[in-house]
Amino acid sequence: PMALRRRPRLKPPKPARRLPQALIIGVRKCGTRALLEMLYLHPMVQKASGEVHFFDRDENYALGLDWYRSKMPLSFKGQITIEKSPSYFVTPEVPERVRAMNASVRLLLIVREPVTRAISDYTQLRSRATPSVPAAPPASHPPPDATKPFEHLAIAADGSINADSDLAVPRVSAPMAGGVPAGEQLLVVNGDLLIEDPVPQLRRIEKFLGLEHKIGRRNFYFNETKGFYCLRNDTTDKCLRETKGRKHPRVDPAVVTKLRRFFVQHNQRFYELVGEDLGWPE
Ligand code: A3P
Repeated sequence: PMALRRRPRLKPPKPARRLPQALIIGVRKCGTRALLEMLYLHPMVQKASGEVHFFDRDENYALGLDWYRSKMPLSFKGQITIEKSPSYFVTPEVPERVRAMNASVRLLLIVREPVTRAISDYTQLRSRATPSVPAAPPASHPPPDATKPFEHLAIAADGSINADSDLAVPRVSAPMAGGVPAGEQLLVVNGDLLIEDPVPQLRRIEKFLGLEHKIGRRNFYFNETKGFYCLRNDTTDKCLRETKGRKHPRVDPAVVTKLRRFFVQHNQRFYELVGEDLGWPE
């Protein structure tokens, strides 16, 4: 009898949870959510839902890489998994821990003109501030009281910049403790440009991540009511939530000028660190 020849089995590709090959490490209020959602328009990108806070929270880190992997979405081989947790940028333990997972993971650092960033941060704090609730027990680093006007928080009574306040801290120039220089592994994304015109920024990122260029004009439409671009592809058609793109309060222009001046030298240091002049107003 003729030997039964085994037919080569066509294995359907199997999705699996994989550790991220790229991280959005911050900076908070610079468009971290927008960046992740925009990249997710790419067919070869999968994203973790929510912020995983694996590298910055000791209790999560203690659970190990298997736990981290379990928080990742299913992906096919060749797809890139991305996670974003903006606090990665400001937590000193993070770089070493990230390196221990994967020394060549790609890092996306999104930044924004620091005074606008501070006002955005303030706007968020204020939207959450509930003055009627009794004061919380004093924390070691209490958040600023956002029921006060921005000007009062950013500038102390004696006219000095309140650099201790979350609002004025030049987070953007915070040394990335043990940081990697920009280059093959770290890409600085200009958050102001991502708001204005996302496609060219995404093109740079696709290249950096080794992805084919897929995200184009057809993936965006400007929503006049929201005042921001909204996203669409074959399966999605959405604007970001209303917590993204809040209306900022008017800030005294003299205060803006003063803060801008304060940031000049920090910005300069940041440009040198990343090897790129972001052209923020002085
Ligand atoms: P504002 O609410 O101050 O405008 P993060 O996700 O890191 O918290 O950043 C929030 C910021 O993302 C928003 O700050 C907004 O300016 C920015 N952003 C960028 N592109 C956006 C988009 N297409 N829709 C909404 N917000 C966007």
